Parts: sequence; C-alpha cells; structure tokens
Amino acid sequence: IIDACRRMNALGINQGTSGNISLRHGDGLLITPTSTPYETMTPDQIVFMGLDGTHAAGQQRPSSEWRFHVDIMRSRNDVGAVVHAHPTYCTILAIMGLEIPPIHYMIAVAGGDTIRCAPYATFGTPELSAHALTALEGRFACLLDHHGMIATGSSLSKAMWLAVEVETLARQYHGCLQIGTPPLLPS
Ligand code: 13P
Repeated sequence: IIDACRRMNALGINQGTSGNISLRHGDGLLITPTSTPYETMTPDQIVFMGLDGTHAAGQQRPSSEWRFHVDIMRSRNDVGAVVHAHPTYCTILAIMGLEIPPIHYMIAVAGGDTIRCAPYATFGTPELSAHALTALEGRFACLLDHHGMIATGSSLSKAMWLAVEVETLARQYHGCLQIGTPPLLPS
C-alpha cells in the first residue's frame, strides 16, 4: 500500500498527502492513515477496518475517506482494492462537472462507454460515498466533482493501472476540448 502511494505521487497522478488507498484484507480492509506524508509512512500506521466501519482503538486515524472505501468493499465483491487520487486532468474535468465520454476505445477498461462524474459532496461524508457508489455502478472508476477520481480493481496493481489509464483518458479529452467537440465512438 505504501509503495503504491509513493508511486501514485511519483507518477504525477496525485500530490502531497491527498489521496488514499485501501486493500481488502481478511474480513475487512487495510487503509492509509489520514493526513500522513507517503515518504515517511510506515507499515504500522496502516489501519485495519472492519466492513462495519470500525477500527481498533490505539491505531492511527484512518483516511477521512474511509466511508467510501468501506462502502465500495461492502457492496462490490469484484473489488479488492480502491485507489483515490486527485489527478490534475481528472480533477479539471470533474470541476467542470464533465464525465469522460467514449473518445477512445480504452474507455472500456473502466467497465463501460463513459466514466461518470459523481456530484459534489463534502469529503469524508456519507453523501459523497453514496454519490460515488452510484457513479461506480457497472464501472471500476469514476470522477468526483470538485475533488478527484476513484479507481478500483480486483487487485491493487489493477486499481493503480486503471488510475493511470483514467488520467490518460482525462488528459486526452481535455486536449480534444481545446480543439473543438470531439467525435465519439459508439457503444
Ligand atoms: P486523507 O489524508 O484523510 O486520506 O484525505 C485525503 C483526501 O484526498 C481526501 O479526499
């Protein structure tokens, strides 16, 4: 998890202490602690949470986004890892309230012919989690309005791979929009 966090920042799809990562583990999940620099994060700071959203006393505080991590793991048996980041191009589109349409056939790697943008809700709230779950229906990734992106996968390496692909699609769409209205592929 810590390696993935550091890679997320090195790849340029996230910055600072933004973002968070979880991985299904036993009957719960392991999740990054809140507001902790990835360069100095140590394995003992990773928090184990039950699928009921509880964690043992004495551990670090889990990511402020633990709700959507827990809710995704609880409702999606096909998901083993969740990567949340603030990639620049995904976030630009999300600020503008745009979903990513089928501009390139690689859109299909997220599970359908669009990557939806979940409506805005304050970070860490049950409302944001509900919006994210809806936007993720039949998908492995979504944008979050005025916020960032969620990518999921059966494994952490697949979720990380998808996060990079989604940011690439967002960058391509942003580039197309500079020239005009891009023609779209059919479903
Ligand atoms: P945490 O440091 O609490 O994980 O929050 C970062 C973030 O990106 C919130 O959306």
